[in-house]
Amino acid sequence: PITARVDDLVERMTVREKVGQMMQLDARDDIDAHVLETHVGSILHASPERLAVAHELVGRTRLRIPLIVGEDCIHGHSFHLGATIFPTQLAMAASWDAELLERVARATAVEVAATGVHWTFSPVLCIARDLRWGRVGETFGEDPFLIGELASAMVRGYQGDGLSDPTAILATAKHFAGYSETQGGRDASEADISPRKLRSWFLPPFERVAREGCASFMLGYQSIDGVPITVNEWLLNDVLRGEWGYEGTLITDWDNVGRMVWEQHVSPDYVHASAAAIRAGNDMVMTTPGFFEGALEALERGLLEEADLDRAVRRILTLKFALGLFERPRHPDAAEQLAVIGSPEHTELNLETARRSLVLLRNEGVLPLAGGYQADEAGRAIATPDAGPQRIAVVGPLADDAQMQLGDWAGNSGQAGWLPDGQPREMITTVVDGLHAVAPAGSTVTTAFGADILTLSPDPAGATFPDGQPRPPLVTPARPDEALIAEAVALAEDADVVVAVVGDRIELVGEGRSTATLELIGGQVALLDALAATGKPLVVVLLASKPLVLPPSALHADAIVWAASPGMQGGRAIAELLLGLIEPTGRLPISFARHAGQQPTYYNQIRGQHGDRYADLTQEPAFAFGDGLSYSSVEYGEPRLDQAVYGRDATVRAEVEVHNSGSRPVLETVQVYVSDLVTSVSWADQELKTFRQVAIQPGDTATVTIELPVADCSIVDARGRRVVEAGEFELRVGGSSRADALHAVRFTIAD
Ligand code: IFM
Repeated sequence: PITARVDDLVERMTVREKVGQMMQLDARDDIDAHVLETHVGSILHASPERLAVAHELVGRTRLRIPLIVGEDCIHGHSFHLGATIFPTQLAMAASWDAELLERVARATAVEVAATGVHWTFSPVLCIARDLRWGRVGETFGEDPFLIGELASAMVRGYQGDGLSDPTAILATAKHFAGYSETQGGRDASEADISPRKLRSWFLPPFERVAREGCASFMLGYQSIDGVPITVNEWLLNDVLRGEWGYEGTLITDWDNVGRMVWEQHVSPDYVHASAAAIRAGNDMVMTTPGFFEGALEALERGLLEEADLDRAVRRILTLKFALGLFERPRHPDAAEQLAVIGSPEHTELNLETARRSLVLLRNEGVLPLAGGYQADEAGRAIATPDAGPQRIAVVGPLADDAQMQLGDWAGNSGQAGWLPDGQPREMITTVVDGLHAVAPAGSTVTTAFGADILTLSPDPAGATFPDGQPRPPLVTPARPDEALIAEAVALAEDADVVVAVVGDRIELVGEGRSTATLELIGGQVALLDALAATGKPLVVVLLASKPLVLPPSALHADAIVWAASPGMQGGRAIAELLLGLIEPTGRLPISFARHAGQQPTYYNQIRGQHGDRYADLTQEPAFAFGDGLSYSSVEYGEPRLDQAVYGRDATVRAEVEVHNSGSRPVLETVQVYVSDLVTSVSWADQELKTFRQVAIQPGDTATVTIELPVADCSIVDARGRRVVEAGEFELRVGGSSRADALHAVRFTIAD
């Protein structure tokens, strides 16, 4: 029936109405005339007031085709006051828990749907390889398999039981494809990437969600080998629509069509740019008002056929019918908002997610601070007799900082304008708040700022970019402030333990905000050096959107916890972890470099490149993909295979014993890598193929079963075909991608 309704409506639409349906405009702009006269199909970034106006205007158009309302609800509803802001995507990826992420996406969809938004531009499936890129924190990290698992779960969560479910929202797989392969980490620079490399690593996560029914795909901004993604017919038509049979909707990124004219200079005008974008398969054009006249003129000049428009309009209308917008407009629902936005259940889920997002990278015995893991009725840790109450100095510029804790896309970094003060402070538990809440009775928690990270000054080039977007202020690293450091050191000297909370700042995170450096900037290194010199036990907590380069005083600290941006409940989760109320369970979804010049450090690089070492630095990362400690110790046995030789249609079955030899429970992430020992083309030494999470009590041993279809042991050959090549393989099982953490067993794939 949807097809019949779409056909009927398309038949009744004028050419102007069709072009209008293909447009998504920024509701913050003056678009009222556009909505009435061109009948736009969609808006984004609409405040509640603007949304009401837009719906009212649509009601006055000839066909009254409802708007689809889009928004960047990335880790929660980014721009709704009081919405639950979960850990960022990279933080959540550290949980390696697809089921948890599905629940997060479901809760987000419930909150988002109540606000009258139907379409989220999430999740991000880009592979993060250059740590300088400002959008690393928006990704699931560096591994295609992990990205596919987690993205698929989030798509399921957003889209719920099907689009007609009133709490379902459309998911978007973005940014298709290769956008993260930047030069020098600079955002949206031309990607140096071959079709074979795309097929090897960048496309598989997208293919998975395309085949699983992700409702929409968003393009990147960049070009590949001279061709802007917006008009990459091979990628959009041959691969996505052709090979994968994708029927969903394709949306450009921000003004991609205009960019072909004013930025990339590959089209002389909007007429040619609009025609080329439609012919390449785009359905909806984001924030390019000039597309309207451009596409109409392209039709007149014969650069486009009306059938080209019909194909795109059909896809957009199909979404609108599938969502049921014609019968049930899905406008904001005040009563529902009251019931679900920031609800206690979502807050509890947020805390659970934050707990699972923390990665303990180093622990020389200082953690857990309270020794035990019992809490009293008020939720405070009960210290073991030998640990006793403690004097905790929690210092550093991010110890009481709500912004970095929420991270990008949380209404706090200026992208969308109508939450100028960000989310309500009382909804956010900072590290200082968390320690006050859960430190054992009798403990003292003192705090000092310790160091500035940045100073901000107005940009002399003006307040806006040429396209009218607001220009962020210029940021300069702050100089160490001796008085601030002295104040923190004084507290440290009076304490039993020092918790230093350091990292980056929101101005250095996100789209167009790549960083040339990765070091802790401002006065932070001087602060850490001074704290280390006190000789007090030092715990470094990194509230860093992405892996940063740590100075020796941090690398040699007594403990290091990477919290990324752990969301509204992050400070409480961190405090619970430090005090031992919870177990550290997170594993790195991305490697940490030792130096900004050491890049790339991702674990699955092409092997055997002669001389792949620097003369002045090891190529080993500071912390590798998969790393993460617990408060217990875990020992792996040797993996056992069910047979030695497998056919191409077979499944490799293995068992491995994992023993908890410590005194606290663990949730161990058993990682399974495969190495194809000889390949017809150069290939990664090993790749993550599956993983299992198992809870093991102290003293217990779990027997973990691994099942791996031989088809998953494929590579992409010189002709770009995905093939399984017969020969010798290694199955490597362990608690990290590091060679010394893995136990290997060989098997053969027969011809
Ligand atoms: O969804 C985003 C995208 O990730 C980057 N450019 C702007 C879009 C809409 O806000």
